[in-house]
Amino acid sequence: MECAPSQLVPQGPGIDPAFQGCALTGAQPNAQTVSGAAYLQTTFEYTRSNLWRNWAVVIAFAVLYILVTMVATETISFASSGGGALVFKKSKRAKKSVKQAPSDEEKVVAGESTSSNTSATAAQNEEEALDQISSSESVFTWENVEYTVPYQGGERKLLNKVNGYAKPGVMVALVGASGAGKSTLLNTLSQRQTMGVVSGDMLVDGKGLARDFQRGTGFCEQMDVHDGTATIREALEFSAILRQDNKIPRQEKIDYVDKIIDLLELHDVQDALVSSLGVEQKKRVTIGVELAAKPSLLLFLDEPTSGLDSNSAYSIVRFLKKLAAAGQAIVCTIHQPSSVLIQQFDMILALNPGGNTFYFGPVGQNGSEVIKYFADRGVQCPPNKNVAEFILETAAKPVKRKDGSRINWNDEWVKSPNNAEVIKEIGRIKSDRSQKALQSNDEATEFAAPVWLQTTMLTKRLFTQYWRDPSYLYGKLFVAIIIGIFNGFTFYMLGNSIGDMQNRMFTAFLILLIPPTIVNAVVPKFYNNMALWQARELPSRIYGWFAFTTAQVVAEIPIAIVSSILYWLLWYYPAGLPTDSSTAGYVFLMTMLFFLFISSWGQWICAFAPSFTVISNVLPFFFVMFSLFNGVVKSYSEMPVFWRYWM
Ligand SMILES: Nc1ncnc2c1ncn2[C@@H]1O[C@H](COP(=O)(O)OP(=O)(O)O)[C@@H](O)[C@H]1O
Ligand SMILES: [Mg+2]
Repeated sequence: MECAPSQLVPQGPGIDPAFQGCALTGAQPNAQTVSGAAYLQTTFEYTRSNLWRNWAVVIAFAVLYILVTMVATETISFASSGGGALVFKKSKRAKKSVKQAPSDEEKVVAGESTSSNTSATAAQNEEEALDQISSSESVFTWENVEYTVPYQGGERKLLNKVNGYAKPGVMVALVGASGAGKSTLLNTLSQRQTMGVVSGDMLVDGKGLARDFQRGTGFCEQMDVHDGTATIREALEFSAILRQDNKIPRQEKIDYVDKIIDLLELHDVQDALVSSLGVEQKKRVTIGVELAAKPSLLLFLDEPTSGLDSNSAYSIVRFLKKLAAAGQAIVCTIHQPSSVLIQQFDMILALNPGGNTFYFGPVGQNGSEVIKYFADRGVQCPPNKNVAEFILETAAKPVKRKDGSRINWNDEWVKSPNNAEVIKEIGRIKSDRSQKALQSNDEATEFAAPVWLQTTMLTKRLFTQYWRDPSYLYGKLFVAIIIGIFNGFTFYMLGNSIGDMQNRMFTAFLILLIPPTIVNAVVPKFYNNMALWQARELPSRIYGWFAFTTAQVVAEIPIAIVSSILYWLLWYYPAGLPTDSSTAGYVFLMTMLFFLFISSWGQWICAFAPSFTVISNVLPFFFVMFSLFNGVVKSYSEMPVFWRYWM
C-alpha cells in the first residue's frame, strides 16, 4: 500500500523525505509503503501460515455443530408432550373451574339420580336460550347466479345459473363432489368473492342487498380461523360487541354470549385458549362466534362436519337443527354425510362440477322426495341406501335411458317440472315478501360498531395477544439487552484517539444488528393477524382497516419504548459517550425512534407483500440497503454517482 503524502510523518517545511515514515499500522521506520501482509499482521494478527490451520478449524466446527444438532434432535423434544390438554387463561374463575373438575366427576360416579336431574334443568335452560336466539324473518333468494373467474388466459365458469332460496326455519344441505363449487357458491351468496364476475339476482325479501348484509349473515369457514390466544368467552364477546347492533347495551350483548356458551355446551371450557381446543370444540367456537353476532338473516356453514368423527358430526348437525327449529335460516355444505345426518336437513341443493345444479328440493321422509325424482327418470335407489351417496353416485356415472340416449342430469334438472316449481316459488316469495316488509332500515351501516369502539376493542385484544405470547416480547427484550451489553462493553469507555473516534462511529453503527431479529419476529405476527382479518373478520364486517392498522401500530409501541430504554442504557454509558443531557437525550430520542421504526418497518413490508415468499425475498434486500447506505460505510458525497441520485 502506497502511503498518501498527507499521511507521511513528520510533516513540515524542510523535512527530508528520506526520513519520513508512514502513519499506517504495520509500517517500518522510514518506509513509504506498507506491505499488505504486514498491515494484516499488526492490525488483525492474521498471517498466511494460519491459512490451513483455520481451514481445519472451520471444518472441525462444522462437524461439531452437526454432531450437536444430531444429538439434540434425537434427545430433546420441544413439542408439548401429550397434546390436547386445554390451556386456561390465568384468572380466578379459570382456577376455580380447574379445581372443581375432579369433584364433578365424583358426583357423577356417586349417583345417577343427580345427573338426570341436572340434565332436565339443562334441557330447560337450552329451551330458553333457543327462544332468545334471534330468528331470521327475511327470505333470501338467488336466481341465475353465475360466477366467472379469469383462468389461464381465458375464463372459467364456476357457477352456472344456480337458483334457490333459504327460508327461516329451513336447513338447506349443499352437496356435491369435491371441487363441484360448493364453497364457491357459499362465498358468492355471502358476497365474499373478491375477484371474478358475479351475475344473477340475490335478493332479501325481493329487494337488493343492504349495506349491512354481510354482518347480518353468519359465515362459518371450513378452516376455523381464530385468534388462538383469546379464550372462548373473549372470542364470542368480541364478536357480539362489535357485530350486534350498536344500540343494544353492552351488558345485554354479554348476557347473550352467556346463553350461546351454554347452548354450545362450552360453559366449562369458556376460559380455555382457543388454540388449545380440539377439532370439535373449535368448530363449536366457530359457530358460536357467528351466533354471538346475532345473524338476522342467514347462517352459512362450509363443511362444519369435515374432520369430525361421526358422533361429533352428529352433535353439530343436531345443534344446527335446533337452531333452524328456533327460526334460523341455514345453508350448509356437507361432505359425505351419513344417512342419519342427511335426514336432519330439510332441503338439498346438489351441484355437479362446473357449478351446475342437478337437484334442489326437499329431502322428504327418509329421502323419499329425492328418490322419487330420480326414480321418475329411471334410476332406482336401492333400499336402505344413503340418499346423499346415492345422488352423488348417480350424478357421477353415466346412465342410459331405455332408448339408449345418455341422461345429462344438469339438462334433466333444467327441463324438469321441479325446477320450474323452484323458479315459481322464488317469484312468489319475491312478490309476497316485498309487499309485507316495507319498513326498510335506511341507516344501515356497513359496520355495526363505530370506528372508535372497533379500535379500542381490537387494541385491547391485541395487547392481550402480545401478553399471552410472551416469547415474542421476551425475544425483543433479549435482543435489546444482549446487543446493548455486547456493544457497550466491547467499546468500553472510549477515549479521544483517532482509533477511538472511529470506534465511536462504529458503536453507533452497531445498532443495525437489531433490525433483522426484530423484523423477523414482527413479520409473522403481523402476517397472521392480517390473515385473520382478511379471511374472516373483514368479510364479516367486524372491524375495518382503520381499527386494524391503528391497533397493530399501537400494540408495538410499549415494547419498542421499553427495549429502546434498555438498549440505550446498556450501550450508551458503558461506551463512555458524552453524558451531557442534550447529547445523551438526543441519542436516546434517536434510539427510541429507531426502535419504533423497526416494528413499523416490518409491518410495512408485510402489509404490501402478497405472500410469505415475497417477504422472505425482499427482506435481505432491505437489510443490505439499510446497512450500506446509511452514511457510515460511505458518506453521501463519496458515493458513486450510480447510487447517489436514487438511494
Ligand atoms: N379463484 C378461482 N380461480 C380458478 N378456479 C377456482 C377458483 N376458486 C375455485 N376454483 C375451482 O372451482 C372448483 C370448485 O371449488 P370449490 O367451490 O372450492 O369446491 P368444493 O365444492 O369442493 O367446495 C374447483 O375445481 C376449484 O379448483
Ligand atoms: Mg369446499
